[in-house]
Amino acid sequence: MNKRMFLKKAALLGLSGLAAQQSLATWVARHSGKTPEELASDEVFWQGVRGGYRLKPDYINLENGYYCFIPEATLESYLRHIRTVNLEGSYYMRTVQADNKKKVIERLAILGGCAPDELALTRNTTESLDTVINGIHSQAGDEAIMAEQDYGSIVNMFKLMEKRYGIVRKVVSVPNLPVSGDEIVDLYRGAITPRTRLLLVSHMVNITGQILPIRKICDMAHTLGVEVLVDGAHSFAHIRFSLPELGCDYYGASLHKWLSAPLGAGLLYVRKEKQAGLWALMADWNLKDDITHLAHTGTHPVATDLTILNAIDYYEALGAERKEARLRYLQTYWTSRVRREKQMVVNTPEDPTRACGIANVGVRNMKPADMAKMLLEKYKIWTVAIDGAGVQGCRITPNIYTTPAELDQFVAALRAMA
Ligand SMILES: Cc1ncc(COP(=O)(O)O)c(C=O)c1O
Repeated sequence: MNKRMFLKKAALLGLSGLAAQQSLATWVARHSGKTPEELASDEVFWQGVRGGYRLKPDYINLENGYYCFIPEATLESYLRHIRTVNLEGSYYMRTVQADNKKKVIERLAILGGCAPDELALTRNTTESLDTVINGIHSQAGDEAIMAEQDYGSIVNMFKLMEKRYGIVRKVVSVPNLPVSGDEIVDLYRGAITPRTRLLLVSHMVNITGQILPIRKICDMAHTLGVEVLVDGAHSFAHIRFSLPELGCDYYGASLHKWLSAPLGAGLLYVRKEKQAGLWALMADWNLKDDITHLAHTGTHPVATDLTILNAIDYYEALGAERKEARLRYLQTYWTSRVRREKQMVVNTPEDPTRACGIANVGVRNMKPADMAKMLLEKYKIWTVAIDGAGVQGCRITPNIYTTPAELDQFVAALRAMA
């Protein structure tokens, strides 16, 4: 069988056969002879994975940074959970809801390498981070550090804290292409004063994909008595790490991003010794000092929580290492083709340890909004324009179903625009 026929067959197998987790596991097992790095460029393997997704033919979706819509196998499980919860009504809520939530937290704790009693389920990163920002006992004059590249609404929560409690905001600017991780650590160190209470830092900068040296920042901040809150919206289930090894005090992530859970799923990590000291956003039935007092949600779509288990099954069946290697391969595939072109500016570090699937590129003398518009209207490529905080370009976020052929189309479009 020639390579083309094989690819076609694999795609067909994917479409029909990879709709179930078990098939993904079988598909992965068939390719177990290869390392994640070798598999990263094995298009037969990834065509099979792509077959487990239902994709809109109208455009090439390079905007998975907003959220990663779910593969068919997870979607089927989600629909099944919605039906079960609807069928059982309050019987479900009063009998197994709490146990099921515990199971979800236990599985997430394994992924995060932390204890289950350090994790709470939330709806998203926003809720997780705002719980911490609001929850710290702040006094007028307390200082908080953040970057202008952090997520806007999170930075705005600090603006509310400024108005309400008189906390002082210190805003740094993270360079797009730092010479080293130490440059970033020094940047944050330079903003710390004896009044600094909290440092917010993005694990992966959302507009450029740059990975920041979190462990080093935490160690530095802790020696100066400053707590660290990590915005992990883009890092969880994208790059591999363990929460305790990051060394932070607080961490929030959205599971509808890289874990590909349904919309409205997030997690909050709070180091054990920090839990009692936070005010809760919503009061729980039992006002204990542990993580449960930060985890109250009220009645909410529990089928979403349940499907987190299926999303973890999918992630584990594919393999965290394989996923990370593929996402990094796809990013370097296209950035390496345009990085040295005079008319283009890649706003993401080249060092493979400082970026993974997300990157950002601008075309000189072209407004990001015009670039995104032309990419969609002329070339049928969906991206998002970023114009601010020292970044002018489009954020490009492939996912595991993206093909190099699609990225070739994107690169050709960039060259034509440049
Ligand atoms: C860095 C960062 N933080 C926070 C958020 C907010 O995430 P969510 O809307 O899921 O709460 C996003 C969303 O894209 C983000 O990129």
